[in-house]
Amino acid sequence: MEIIVQETYEEMSRAAAKVVARMLNSKPNAVLGLATGSTPQGVYRELVRLHKNEGLDFSQVTSFNLDEYVGLTKDHPQSYHYFMHENLFKHVNIPPQNVYIPSGTTDNYVAFCAWYERRIEECGGIDLQLLGIGSDGHIAFNEPSSSLGSRTRIKTLARQTIADNARFFEKTEDVPIYAITMGVGTILEARSILLLANGAHKADAVVAAIEGPVTSMITASALQLHPDVICFLDRPAADKLKMLDYYQWVQAKHPGAPQGT
Ligand code: PGA
Repeated sequence: MEIIVQETYEEMSRAAAKVVARMLNSKPNAVLGLATGSTPQGVYRELVRLHKNEGLDFSQVTSFNLDEYVGLTKDHPQSYHYFMHENLFKHVNIPPQNVYIPSGTTDNYVAFCAWYERRIEECGGIDLQLLGIGSDGHIAFNEPSSSLGSRTRIKTLARQTIADNARFFEKTEDVPIYAITMGVGTILEARSILLLANGAHKADAVVAAIEGPVTSMITASALQLHPDVICFLDRPAADKLKMLDYYQWVQAKHPGAPQGT
């Protein structure tokens, strides 16, 4: 796991966007796994800027989003369909038919989940997966106790997640209780993964995910099993890491390391 600490959220977002841009420049038909929430908004802003100012091309990109609230229609302002459209898709040239987001309104979730998994496979698998982390350590909506081998399915949101996400809704009772989400097993099959975290409110989850044991109580800790993960953190999110000095030493020495490391 590579751990990159940046002073600010903006720097963190630009650094992560650079990795996405590098992927698209080396593989124009890359399959991206995309995340929603406050965390990746800066990355999307930077990708839009790179598209508009530097011609970053999305014309052959395919994307799969991690999750969606059950019961919210695509045009609901708090749906992840709406979020992705507003924050990224309407600003870049990704073909609408290449965009996949779990449906929050299908009448057959079991069949939909199986189809979603199949579509990822048929498209060649995910090249680069963006992830945020919940304050309870979740990735996507894989709440504590989710199987580390889980696949796309319905999850019941933890009270903590409902409380965290209530800020986007008028009142807590409006936050959906169920979500459709890629599983931890689905996420671990991505060829490379970027985990992003910013803010002091994420510091405990970050420590547990990076330095704690691998456990289904903190599903982000399963990323320790993946061979190609970069964690982009801002300083407040990194503040409680016991090995912070070491990660920063590695980061500083990286340019001089033998090629291929
Ligand atoms: P946030 O959510 O980016 O809105 O903090 C992250 C998550 O729950 O995965």
